[in-house]
Amino acid sequence: MASQLDIQSHYSLRALNTFGIDAKAAHYLEVTDVAQLHALYRDTSLRAIPRLILGGGSNVLLTHDFPGLVLHIATLGMAVTGEDEQQVFVTAQAGENWHAFVQWTLAQGFAGLENLSLIPGSVGAAPIQNIGAYGSELVDFFHSLTAFDMTSGELLYLSKADCAFAYRDSVFKHTLRDRAIILEVRFALPKAWQPNLRYAELAAELASRGITKANAQDIADAVIAIRTRKLPDPAKVGNAGSFFKNPVVSAELRNSLLAQYPALVSYPQADGRYKLAAGWLIDQCGWKGKSIGAAGVHENQALVLVNLGGASGADLLHLANKIRDDVNAKCGVILEPEPVIV
Ligand code: EPU
Repeated sequence: MASQLDIQSHYSLRALNTFGIDAKAAHYLEVTDVAQLHALYRDTSLRAIPRLILGGGSNVLLTHDFPGLVLHIATLGMAVTGEDEQQVFVTAQAGENWHAFVQWTLAQGFAGLENLSLIPGSVGAAPIQNIGAYGSELVDFFHSLTAFDMTSGELLYLSKADCAFAYRDSVFKHTLRDRAIILEVRFALPKAWQPNLRYAELAAELASRGITKANAQDIADAVIAIRTRKLPDPAKVGNAGSFFKNPVVSAELRNSLLAQYPALVSYPQADGRYKLAAGWLIDQCGWKGKSIGAAGVHENQALVLVNLGGASGADLLHLANKIRDDVNAKCGVILEPEPVIV
């Protein structure tokens, strides 16, 4: 492939996705500088081939070798960029590890992101699915971001509204998918910080540690403990966190399920509908700890699919489809995958 860019061929993506799937990229480029993206854009033949953008690879299921160009975003840097009366502004480059960034903000004395500790992946991937955990979501602290637009070759500056954040969703899963390459993300962290202990399991963890007036680091430590207990470490067992979104259903459906299953876990939404715990439904249908070949359902959290060793993306997708069909047959609820399926 003619270009001054250091593009590699038949590149294994195994170390670049947290499921540990050994899919290959026909062409691969590690992006450490925006100048590479300008060069890519100027090369009309390169620009035309299908692209896949990978950050930390923690929210993707690779079901086949990728026939086009995989861009691994590896730009680094974190900085405090300003403040006003209410907030401190911090900026991180897309290739930074999310958890390392959260820990860095806490070490600087800035609270806000503690509930989002230990989420696998990179800073640049975090806005794509509006990462969330233990009562917080990225959108709560997001200010704006800069991305490279592969369609125009120009930089895009996107505000919070431009990103159309929703539950595990954003414009980057829709109109800007594989088009906008997120380069840097800016956060606004509140100076008048309040602990967010709405999530019962988090409050219980702090209580069990005898902490009555939690600071941000106490909360981060509690979140890290809960996650470590319940969720498999992708460095040891391949996984992409929750494999399905928690479905939002009508009050009618929730009420009829509740009559059938009195222990149903559901959370009322502002619009009168209910969010159901997909992990509870999958568990109820008997899938927790089960496996088909090397594709498994985690034994402590049925929402997490795991690569028990050597599973292909197709194996995991097959298991996911079986689970989806079974939950639909037994409960009348259609589960949607959370990761991007490629
Ligand atoms: N449950 C079961 N069995 C299971 C799993 C869950 O009965 O196998 C029940 C739990 O006891 C609880 C309820 O289902 O009553 C919800 O479970 P949990 O609190 O573990 O959270 P979740 O709804 O399964 C969501 C996020 C996680 C996030 C946690 C904590 C989604 C899809 N998942 O999981 O996010 O860490 O809440 O906030 O929204 C991720 O997105 O990758 C992820 C891990």
